[in-house]
Amino acid sequence: MSNDLLLEVRDLQTYFYLDEGIVKAVDGATLQVRRGKTLAVVGESGCGKSIMARSILQIVAKPGKIVGGEISFYRHSMADNGLETRSEQVKLTDYKPNSPEMRAFRGKEVAMIFQEPMASLSPVHTIGNQVMENFRQHFQVSKKEARNVTIEMLGKVGIPRPDQRFDAYPHQLSGGMRQRAMIAMALICQPCLLIADEPTTALDVTTQAQILELMQQLQVELGMAIIIITHDLGVVAEIADDVAVMYLGQVVEQAPVDELFHDPQHPYTRGLLRSIPRLESQTRERLDAIPGSVPHPYNRPTGCRFHPRCRERLANKLDICKTDEPELLPLNNIQNVRCWLYHKPGSTSSAPETGDRRQETISIS
Ligand SMILES: Nc1ncnc2c1ncn2[C@@H]1O[C@H](COP(=O)(O)OP(=O)(O)OP(=O)(O)O)[C@@H](O)[C@H]1O
Ligand SMILES: [Mg+2]
Repeated sequence: MSNDLLLEVRDLQTYFYLDEGIVKAVDGATLQVRRGKTLAVVGESGCGKSIMARSILQIVAKPGKIVGGEISFYRHSMADNGLETRSEQVKLTDYKPNSPEMRAFRGKEVAMIFQEPMASLSPVHTIGNQVMENFRQHFQVSKKEARNVTIEMLGKVGIPRPDQRFDAYPHQLSGGMRQRAMIAMALICQPCLLIADEPTTALDVTTQAQILELMQQLQVELGMAIIIITHDLGVVAEIADDVAVMYLGQVVEQAPVDELFHDPQHPYTRGLLRSIPRLESQTRERLDAIPGSVPHPYNRPTGCRFHPRCRERLANKLDICKTDEPELLPLNNIQNVRCWLYHKPGSTSSAPETGDRRQETISIS
């Protein structure tokens, strides 16, 4: 295991058991987060990004449940000689959502911020008390000491006059300031991983830029990793080190950000990138959107889940896509892809079959 691995989600399945049927919100998702790095998770609405993130902290609302797969967190500690670091694997999926282990872990080692701060801040408590309570839940300190740490944190996230704002209620703050208070609440325990689920979608572009810059600055200062869920590929290009692309509950490609933008492999990733409007286009051309729409969760395609919308399957006359599901396999040392264009049935790596086929598929897009 590489020493810079912080979190690994393997074959995760999180299902909702409804009267009408089972919604397989996350169904076979695999991804890795590197220590101190930013992983962006992208994909069309409903593909399971938020439920995957909530599964890591085991805060999936009922009737949702993790029914399969593994989530491992690699905790670093200093060896007895004080020189080397040791990595201990903690299997989060072995813990029950309300277990003392999970409660000690949640908010301390991994914290989460949400798109809408009002949904997670209590309207009847001051922001100072809410941030402070999170700290006191995990650290045995006096109230005075906790208050000082809170004021320092509120200042760090750019809230002006933090000693006075400590006593403000959420409704007395602007949207941007509330999002800063949420970040303070998430970061007060100095987590190793921050999960940010569309943290800037509800903000204007200037405030969005400030919040992203703040997250990056605190990331360097605290040495934490970030999982950012976003629809905005501009944000991905700006802040991500790695990108995981999700489709219908699975990760179909994970790659470093440069490779993903310059040499995308999965037809779905190529489709997402083609559908971004470009400033340099001369005429008012139509956007090249991915054909069709995300299938209904009760009506999932057989074989590769993307095959009904995949242009490259038709161009390459791949019948296997309709019948057999490909696995997520390494294509080279750094890119993982789940697609029959790159591997034969039964193989354990997705090396391109021939140079020609890769050329052919790229020229189609
Ligand atoms: N409480 C719930 N009960 C039933 N189904 C749910 C529930 N929450 C989510 N789902 C379903 O799980 C699937 C994944 O939802 P999720 O919220 O993770 O999508 P997402 O990728 O975050 O989408 P968005 O980009 O719109 O936020 C969707 O089909 C959704 O309808
Ligand atoms: Mg979501």
